[in-house]
Amino acid sequence: ARSARDFLPESLDYPHLVKAAEKCRGCDLHQHATQTVFGVGPTSARLVLVGEQPGDQEDLAGEPFVGPAGEVLDEALHEAGIDRRQTYVTNAVKHFKFTLRGKRRLHQKPDAREVNACRPWLEAELGLIRPEVLICLGATAAQALIGRDFRITRQRGEWLQTDWCDATIATYHPSALLRVPDAEQRAQMRRDFIADLTKAARRLT
Ligand code: URA
Ligand code: SF4
Repeated sequence: ARSARDFLPESLDYPHLVKAAEKCRGCDLHQHATQTVFGVGPTSARLVLVGEQPGDQEDLAGEPFVGPAGEVLDEALHEAGIDRRQTYVTNAVKHFKFTLRGKRRLHQKPDAREVNACRPWLEAELGLIRPEVLICLGATAAQALIGRDFRITRQRGEWLQTDWCDATIATYHPSALLRVPDAEQRAQMRRDFIADLTKAARRLT
């Protein structure tokens, strides 16, 4: 199958990865998106956060989690005592997938084929950084890294081992918090989200 594999640079250091990913055509998602949104942060980071895919604002800015979901994430990281500048933040899929509704670009969930096609970038990032703690934000990242059977409702907040990190944990996607209409339920999710991030931060030695 077509994938990002064909676009990996010879040297897997960060600058070469970023440059090569700009030209990735490993799946069709590059056709309508503005640009590749690669992970950002120090490659010496001990903590890596993986989201799903860039949203509308990330697509325009070229950086992960700078839109509404990023605001939710920033606030929760702060409450968990995590300095985002010391973490590496990336996504399972590097191009924005959307449908047009008038002038608005509505987020569409990437399918398993697209996640698989993009996985070489994520694996290269994790291979380079080798994080001490790996946080999957939402089911897409968790299924990409932990396995297709992963369910947030069953395994959120549990320590798991993956090929890339012995301390892997999955929690809610920050966007999920934005979608819950009930205030009580939203507040509970937010508490759980912060508790998971706090648990992850405490695992850092
Ligand atoms: N949602 C994600 O999963 N990643 C982003 O970068 C922004 C929104
Ligand atoms: Fe390449 Fe990933 Fe973009 Fe598809 S989504 S073109 S695999 S970078």
